[in-house]
Amino acid sequence: MNNISVLLKEAKNAAGRAYAPYSEFKVGCAILTSTGRIYSGCNVENVSYPVGTCAEAGALAAMINGGESEIKEILIYADSKQIISPCGACRQRIAEFAQGNAPVHMANARGEVKTLTIGELLPMGFKEF
Ligand code: THU
Repeated sequence: MNNISVLLKEAKNAAGRAYAPYSEFKVGCAILTSTGRIYSGCNVENVSYPVGTCAEAGALAAMINGGESEIKEILIYADSKQIISPCGACRQRIAEFAQGNAPVHMANARGEVKTLTIGELLPMGFKEF
């Protein structure tokens, strides 16, 4: 299996565990790190809507808790017909731990995958001060 297939499987599994009773929109995210390990996360909503967290935030928290901080590739899967792209806040979260040329794969339930780099998704992102 190539990286995308492995990440897709993990992200789909994570989406299956999503807590999304309000939007009914389940999202999963899987991160391949520079050491070859994979971390995943799902969206976790809340009755107080802004308190909910994206799948990307969950996967990133798992990666940091696993003692790693270098994203090699990341895949976001939505259990929908459409391919979705990470929200602005999640682009910033990803950019914190990835080189500009790191691939961000975006996949839907039809098995379609679109890939852009985090640099393309977040041009001129705030990196340092
Ligand atoms: N969501 C994610 O988890 N990741 C994204 O990239 C886009 C949106 C979640 C947030 C919310 O729980 C649901 O999808 C609908 O917006």
